[in-house]
Amino acid sequence: MVTIDQVIDKLSTVIDPDLKKDIVSMGMIKDLELDSDNLKFTLELTTPACPFNVEIEDDVRRAIGEIGDLKNFDMNVTAKVMEGRSLDEDTGMVTVKNIIGVASGKGGVGKSTVSLNLALALSQTGAKVGLLDADIYGPSIPLMLGMKDGYMEVEDNKLQPADSNGLKVVSFGFFAEQSHQAAIYRGPIISGILRQFLVDTNWSNLDYLIVDLPPGTGDIPLTLAQTIPITGILVITTPQDVASNVAVKAIGMFEKLNVPILGVVENMSHFACPTCSDKHYIFGDGGAKKISEQFNMPFLGEIPLNSGIMSGSDLGRPIMIASPESPSAVAFKSAARNIAAQCSILAARLQQEASATEEQVQDGPDGSARDDPGSSIGQVMTSTISATVDAPQDGRMQ
Ligand SMILES: Nc1ncnc2c1ncn2[C@@H]1O[C@H](COP(=O)(O)OP(=O)(O)O)[C@@H](O)[C@H]1O
Ligand SMILES: [Mg+2]
Repeated sequence: MVTIDQVIDKLSTVIDPDLKKDIVSMGMIKDLELDSDNLKFTLELTTPACPFNVEIEDDVRRAIGEIGDLKNFDMNVTAKVMEGRSLDEDTGMVTVKNIIGVASGKGGVGKSTVSLNLALALSQTGAKVGLLDADIYGPSIPLMLGMKDGYMEVEDNKLQPADSNGLKVVSFGFFAEQSHQAAIYRGPIISGILRQFLVDTNWSNLDYLIVDLPPGTGDIPLTLAQTIPITGILVITTPQDVASNVAVKAIGMFEKLNVPILGVVENMSHFACPTCSDKHYIFGDGGAKKISEQFNMPFLGEIPLNSGIMSGSDLGRPIMIASPESPSAVAFKSAARNIAAQCSILAARLQQEASATEEQVQDGPDGSARDDPGSSIGQVMTSTISATVDAPQDGRMQ
């Protein structure tokens, strides 16, 4: 007879390559039932966009296969995005698990284009995604989505985001007359508008909210960092941007504000020649990688310079919609997976910090250790699994 300990021991050998932890202590095994050598459980991955989802699933099947004596094995694979930000009641926006600010040193590097296509790429994996166009001076998302006449309704004193291609979208561009008035708005008003877009909007349940920030280090990035806890900042550069060092200033500001940097994506990094299929690094090679090394932050992807990306945006048909299998769309998908993985890593760190704080509180005033040392996440999971196995067949873990 196979025992529950055998199953858990085997599953504990499977390591999530991003989180560098085993899947049992990360709480990824749910609804485990073992009955007369019939095994079934749910593998709950940390995001549908994880770059290693297939690898983890294969590793689980291999590990279970090594047990040998099982009659039946049934695995259900799902994904539940981890909370990469504090969701305490008083932090605001508690229905949004991850908020990702997209920043750059200067304008024109393709921040809006990248924000939109990354949001679409994440959404196409099955995640629930919102896009906040926070570039109040020059909102471009409505045009890029072909929503020139889009608008937002107000219900119960909350803004209702517009829907487009599965995304929840909020933009100052949905307000009439913005094109000639935007430039006159000053700091406090701008900050007030952004705060409303963040906390007075009915975002509903979102796995990821992408915030397309205006370039530089002005009032809007500052307000975002100071209004609500966010998961982190994604820095967009181009090879030329790196050369002029402006991205470095934006990174410095967020670091001073203690906002995590998720990593850097290089846009227009190379020209993908359609005839010879070579990559031509016309503006130089490796600039963003250098920045990522200098600041010890992950390099999350490179997006080619491609006329399809530009015309897609101009025509209101982003490349992720118009041509989802093109090399440019594949580059966005890959960057989106890396970004989702970084969010999971930050979320796991938050969980660990929270359980370490909890342990400290329980240790008592003299700081003496409790009887049961080791990872608290691991202990909770293992005991929950055992309890499930002891329970009747229909007593499933939630
Ligand atoms: N990878 C790319 N290939 C070709 N054109 C691009 C690419 N990324 C952005 N663009 C074009 O560059 C211009 C500026 O992009 P935009 O996203 O508005 O930049 P930002 O938001 O940083 O000011 C737009 O015309 C856009 O279509
Ligand atoms: Mg823009």
